[in-house]
Amino acid sequence: MKITVLPGDGIGPEVTAEAVRVLRAVAAIHDHEFEFVERPIGGIAIKQTGSPLPSLTLDTCLAGDAVLLGAVGAPEYDSQPPNLRPEAGLLLLRRALGGFANLRPAISYDAIESASPLRSEIARGADILIVRELLGGLYFGEPRGFFSSNGESAARNTMVYSVAEIERVARIAFEAALKRRRKVTSVDKANVLETSQLWRQTVSRVALDYPEVTLDHLYVDACAMHLIMTPLRFDVILTENLFGDILSDEAAAITGSLGMLPSATIGGAVGLYEPVHGSAPDIAGRGQANPFGAIASAAMMLRYTGHLEQEAEEIEEAIRVVLKAGYRTPDIGGEGTRHIAKTSEIGQLVCDAVDELADMRHDYHAV
Ligand code: NAD
Ligand code: IPM
Ligand code: MN
Repeated sequence: MKITVLPGDGIGPEVTAEAVRVLRAVAAIHDHEFEFVERPIGGIAIKQTGSPLPSLTLDTCLAGDAVLLGAVGAPEYDSQPPNLRPEAGLLLLRRALGGFANLRPAISYDAIESASPLRSEIARGADILIVRELLGGLYFGEPRGFFSSNGESAARNTMVYSVAEIERVARIAFEAALKRRRKVTSVDKANVLETSQLWRQTVSRVALDYPEVTLDHLYVDACAMHLIMTPLRFDVILTENLFGDILSDEAAAITGSLGMLPSATIGGAVGLYEPVHGSAPDIAGRGQANPFGAIASAAMMLRYTGHLEQEAEEIEEAIRVVLKAGYRTPDIGGEGTRHIAKTSEIGQLVCDAVDELADMRHDYHAV
């Protein structure tokens, strides 16, 4: 696999380095050849080239098999208009790669249940897959921008969805549900928005092709409430771009930290894998960032782009092993912590666990 690595800004480079370390360990064990090419994106790219997505970065991504991204964004660009910000680089990249379905699993690990703000009897066992539409809605709708209206400054964004855009992401959600607990909750605001009415009609129609899957609908405000009150009621959540952005950070809180959540963007020419969190300027440069989301994103890359299911599961199992052994970054410290570890220590521990799992498998086959 040819992997383009885009570390980006803030803690992006810190967590990405650990994901790459784990991928190298997996490659060594299984005799795979992973080629890594690193390129700038976001604030660092603006600094180096004037553009948040330099053409060399984009061309490299398009020529490879998969993209592993850290995070973009830095406070110094906060007052810039949207198209000159680091985040614009990420949005351009998403559109160019073409992946329209962003899978964001939120899993509550028993070992760190005390890190969750929820009581353990509520959060324990939560295992939710958010399928977020990634190329439509308010993020990309036209017209957009600042304008003047009756001499006053105004701004607008457009929420727009076509049936085809809804249908293709809905199919991904139903297919995913077939491999899980066979339940899809579609989230919209159909009591107010026409785009949501079209969303609900279209999802209901797609559901007819999946009689084994139970479909229910929630308004996004109620969904935000149910996520916290009864996270176990959810299996797959299917929703549009902005709602998915918001609900996935909320779902991360159930697990204990935003740093735990990975993502995979599929359906396009090249898969894009990135943790759900941002550049976390408040902790950048201190070696404190939680790399589990980035490492789990690497596992998703092996699964969806590499079709290396066993290797993906080994990384996911290694994450469980390290958490069980009590190693944590500060954001998930709490009961059961044996050692508060640096970002790089966690990466190394996951590699060690991957190695040990491989040895055990080897011994098992030898017997
Ligand atoms: P953020 O996700 O960067 O941070 C929110 C909070 O969570 C912070 O307190 C941070 O310290 C903590 N956090 C996040 N990731 C963590 C990790 N791996 N380990 C430990 N703690 C972690 O969100 P924000 O502060 O709202 O945004 C900061 C910048 O990141 C902004 O410029 C924003 O646009 C950008 N952003 C980028 C992405 C991305 O590149 N995919 C995603 C979200 C936000
Ligand atoms: C995310 C981020 C991005 C988004 C930003 C940085 C453009 O918040 O991946 O969740 O809104 O999609
Ligand atoms: Mn977000």
